[in-house]
Amino acid sequence: MVIEVVRIGQRVVRDDRVTTHVALVARAFGATRIYMNEINPEIKDTLGKINDSWGGDFSIEYMENWKSIIKMKKEENFKIIHLTMYGENINEIQSEITKEKNLLVVVGAEKVPREIYEYADYNVAIGSQPHSEISGLAIFLDRIQKGNQFNKFFSNAKRRIIPTKKGKNVVLETRD
Ligand SMILES: C[S@@+](CC[C@H](N)C(=O)[O-])C[C@H]1O[C@@H](n2cnc3c(N)ncnc32)[C@H](O)[C@@H]1O
Repeated sequence: MVIEVVRIGQRVVRDDRVTTHVALVARAFGATRIYMNEINPEIKDTLGKINDSWGGDFSIEYMENWKSIIKMKKEENFKIIHLTMYGENINEIQSEITKEKNLLVVVGAEKVPREIYEYADYNVAIGSQPHSEISGLAIFLDRIQKGNQFNKFFSNAKRRIIPTKKGKNVVLETRD
């Protein structure tokens, strides 16, 4: 399953911390790419440094228009998942979504355009209470991949963590 993320409506500087965390969650929970309408170069730099230390090739892509990304991905046979508190309960719909091959997960920042509800193949609620795009994305990705994302290997890492009961155990990888 290929998973990509779109964040719509963020505002540079004001939303930068949340935007960074959405991108970090996307990367750490198994997505390969995030599209954004505004990108602070510092966020790209932060994620680039994370890739360099901890591996993988997660990318941040600029999008001029979210509708054209959604249309392009539909043509590439991606299913569009819009995370919204008004959608179908994740508990009811997760087994159906798990059968899909490629997913484009859309999360909002402040106000989400109404049309997104129509473009989406699935409007999915991570509970019908307002919370956050960071938690919504994390829980969605975990449910859909059933925790397997945490067994994923991040290639070309400089550092790797050996999980330990107490303290920190980090090994430096040797590259040829
Ligand atoms: C701070 S909320 C803003 C919600 C806003 N009132 C709206 O127009 O939808 C930002 C984003 O968090 C996500 N989100 C928040 N609560 C959610 C929930 N219960 N289930 C799924 N996604 C949620 C949605 O993607 C939403 O667009």
